[in-house]
Parts: sequence; structure tokens; C-alpha cells
Amino acid sequence: MSHTSVLKNEAIEALQINPDGIYIDATLGRGGHSLSILEQLENGHLFCFDLDLQAIKESKLVLNDYLDKVTFIHDNFAKMGDYVTTPVDGILMDLGVSSPQFDEASRGFSYRFESRLDMRMNQEQALSAYEVVNDYGEEELVEILFKYGEERFSKRIVKNIFKNRPITTTFELVEIIKSSLPASELRKKGHPAKKTFQALRIEVNKELESLEKALEVASELLKVGGHLVVITFHSLEDRIVKNYFNSLSKPPKTDRRLPILEEIKVNYRSTLINVSESELEDNYRAHSAKMRILSRKG
Ligand SMILES: C[S@@+](CC[C@H](N)C(=O)[O-])C[C@H]1O[C@@H](n2cnc3c(N)ncnc32)[C@H](O)[C@@H]1O
Repeated sequence: MSHTSVLKNEAIEALQINPDGIYIDATLGRGGHSLSILEQLENGHLFCFDLDLQAIKESKLVLNDYLDKVTFIHDNFAKMGDYVTTPVDGILMDLGVSSPQFDEASRGFSYRFESRLDMRMNQEQALSAYEVVNDYGEEELVEILFKYGEERFSKRIVKNIFKNRPITTTFELVEIIKSSLPASELRKKGHPAKKTFQALRIEVNKELESLEKALEVASELLKVGGHLVVITFHSLEDRIVKNYFNSLSKPPKTDRRLPILEEIKVNYRSTLINVSESELEDNYRAHSAKMRILSRKG
């Protein structure tokens, strides 16, 4: 898996950085985007959020030359409004799991490595993939796999999970998933456990709920002229971002038969940026990526 930040130049360009401005990197990761922001700041400040303590620890080394301009916050980006109360010039959200999280076997995010079922971005959180797989009810688990993984065979997989509980490791789960899928499905491209693992990860980290809440808070925090840049990696996330940005940037449909009393003013503009051909060639992770920008107008 590549360790380069996806859509980095495009995201930084979209932020149109004011050297004296206030910025939020909602998803610090290993500080790739944050470093690019900090390199352009003079009297400005950057607030960095991550649920993962390891990400914060390692980014402090990456951002070592700029520590006087950074505030690190180990919390959910949905709570950014509790920490940043002044309007900001720009906010970046580069969603999902970082490459180091995927590549560290013990974190349990990957079906490629043997590990205890975990998948917590925040290592201090009680709920892990182990509890989701072993304690949730059958219907609830089917719904999670279907909704968050778009897994057509969720019922068969969950039936087998129930027969084999308790399931302790990633590889035990991979075997159960494989034994639940029809041969035609197993012959298809892509790992057979990909959808189930995605679904569990979204549930463990409450990713979609956090995103919905964060978009609301972030759009409110933006100064006039400020930009919120969101990079997504799957259609569930992108749909939430697209719908929310549309709701703010498009006037609501009115009934044409009624007289127009006053023009409805829209205070935001939404833009979609796709990944360039050259980045698609260089970076596997970029294939499912999309970037949307919400800009606050006067
Ligand atoms: C794709 S990585 C970001 C990579 C980063 N832009 C870089 O250049 O290194 C996403 C990061 O966001 C964090 N994250 C995901 N959801 C979060 C949330 N709700 N609140 C805070 N951090 C979150 C993850 O722990 C992960 O470190």
C-alpha cells in the first residue's frame, strides 16, 4: 500500500492558504497534508485532530519545525467545534484509515495480516471489532454488513459467524467469509473479505455518524471566503458529503405555480475534483478517491 497522501496538491491548492489564517486538519494521520499547510503559514495557526494517539505522536516528529504553530487534539473531528471557537479559513478532512493503520498488523484493520479482531482508530475506545462480531445480534450484524459493506451475502456470512462464535482473529473471520460465499463470487477480482472488513471498521469507529456531524460543524466554522475540503474513499462517504454540500449550495426546489416572494440566497458553493490520470497510475489508494470542496460565500 502506498504511503503518499492522496490528492495532496489538489487539496492544498483548494484551501487557498492565507499565511496568517487559521486552519484545521481534521485527519492528521502522519502529517502529510499538515506539513504542506504549515509550510505556507506565517502568523497563522493549524489545529490537528486524530482519534489515533500513535498518529499524533509520530506527526509531532514530522511537524517538528512548526510546533509553535500547531495544536494537536486527540479527539473525534465531530467535536472540532468544542476546541476551535473562532471562524476558520480552511478545513481539511482526508477520511478513512491511514496506510500505517492498515499496515500495522496488530491494529486488526487488514484481512492481509493475522491479528486479534480490533479495528479501533482510537486505542482508548472500549468497542472493537471483537465485540461487534461476537456480541451483536444476528439482524443487527446482517444490517451492518449490508449497509456499510454493501455485501450481498451478508445473511450467509452472519449465519456462519453465529455458528463459529467466538471468533478471535482476522484470519478466522476471513475463513468464515470465504466459506460463506459462492464459488462464482470467490473467483471475482478483489479480496472476498473486503466488504465485511469495511463494514466492521465503519461500525467500530462510527465513521458515518462522525462524518455527518463533522460536516455540519465544519460548514458553520468556516469564515466567509473559507473552504472545506473533503477527500473520501468509498461511495457511502461520498454520498453523505455530496448530499450535504448540495443541501447548502443549491436553492431548495420551489413550487413553480406559487409566486416568488423573495429570492433564496445560497451562501455556499460546492465543487467536485476527480483524481488525475497520473495519480491513478502512481497510487493504488487513489482509485476510489473523490474530493469535494465547500466554499463559503458572502
Ligand atoms: C487517510 S488518514 C489521513 C492521512 C493524512 N492526511 C496524511 O497526510 O498523513 C485518516 C486519519 O484520520 C483519522 N480519523 C478518521 N476518522 C476520524 C475521526 N472521526 N476523528 C478524528 N480522526 C479521525 C484516522 O485515525 C487516520 O489517522
